[in-house]
Amino acid sequence: MLTDRFARRFTYLRLSLTERCNFRCTYCLPEGNDCDTAESDLNIHEVRRLLTAFARLGTRKVRLTGGEPALRRDLSEIISLCKSVPGIEQVALTTNGYNLQKEISGWKKAGLDALNISVDSLDPAIFSRITGADRLHYILQGIDQALQLNFQKVKLNTVLLRQHNTHSLPGFLRFIKDRPVSLRFIELMRTNDNAGFYQEQHLSGEFIRQQLTGDGWQLQPKATTDGPALEYAHPDYAGRVGLIMPYSKDFCSSCNRLRVSSKGELFLCLFADEHQSLRELLQSDDPAPVEAFLQRAIGGKEESHYLHQQRSGQTRHLAMIGG
Ligand code: GTP
Ligand code: 5AD
Ligand code: SF4
Repeated sequence: MLTDRFARRFTYLRLSLTERCNFRCTYCLPEGNDCDTAESDLNIHEVRRLLTAFARLGTRKVRLTGGEPALRRDLSEIISLCKSVPGIEQVALTTNGYNLQKEISGWKKAGLDALNISVDSLDPAIFSRITGADRLHYILQGIDQALQLNFQKVKLNTVLLRQHNTHSLPGFLRFIKDRPVSLRFIELMRTNDNAGFYQEQHLSGEFIRQQLTGDGWQLQPKATTDGPALEYAHPDYAGRVGLIMPYSKDFCSSCNRLRVSSKGELFLCLFADEHQSLRELLQSDDPAPVEAFLQRAIGGKEESHYLHQQRSGQTRHLAMIGG
């Protein structure tokens, strides 16, 4: 079992499959990421070796992230591979949804359990202004398809931007009235690339929380394995609203996750400055050296990101580390 100095157990791996992305989100990759090629991404054998070692140390859930993981032609194969590794119980995917309708049933057949889709606005013009992709209509149809396929969980991600979200809550609430999705508002995170944008656009999750509680939404009890969102429910709505507030709330004491980039680098925290490369160790089928490496590395995990104390607060663009 991977356990750190603060008795936290790490049973969840967030694995980025590529830093490449076909969207140009204003807060993430406004100029895209064309310097990376598919060749620099971990190949399926490296992914298998990595997951085998993690699973032997107690990892039970894998979330495939990016960049945009669906840019990998072998995504369905990777999903089935994840499901076949002894010990892995849940495979989840975070996608921008650009090809959702076409690919979703293949992912489901491959064994995908849960799906997170980014939807930054429900207004087509604003959506394409934020993401650089005129694709909202198609993505919304894909979301309805996902709901028909009975995934364990469908979550939507909306990054809170001052310019666009100050009045967007009622529209989002109408959208989830009859759809059993969890819609999460994510506080914009400051990254190495977006400092000016952050200053201009950051909007606290507290702003949404006040509107929700004023309208009778109730905070739901949270299990330690539940991840960073605080979830609110309302008896008249099939969907829930979540808030992810890394700047307002310190959820590090219940952290259960580690991250590996698409180049095989281990990040102990979303906001960690350092990373360590596992790539060389992934060239051999022997999991023991990878396990020893992970056991050693976990000893260096900090207690908290300390963002709530304003002590640091930058991360690399989230496409690099997989969010
Ligand atoms: P799980 O439900 O726990 O699997 O993850 P999730 O639904 O939160 O994952 P998703 O990939 O949709 O990420 C949503 C947002 O949460 C992203 O902006 C992530 O960067 C952020 N996030 C996920 N894990 C952490 C974390 O450990 N710390 C912080 N600060 N943010 C996180
Ligand atoms: N701040 C907050 N959320 C971000 N995401 C990407 N970059 C940022 C940022 N700087 C979101 C994406 C996606 C999720 C995985 O992370 O929109 O929904
Ligand atoms: Fe691509 Fe996601 Fe970054 Fe948007 S937020 S540019 S979809 S990686």
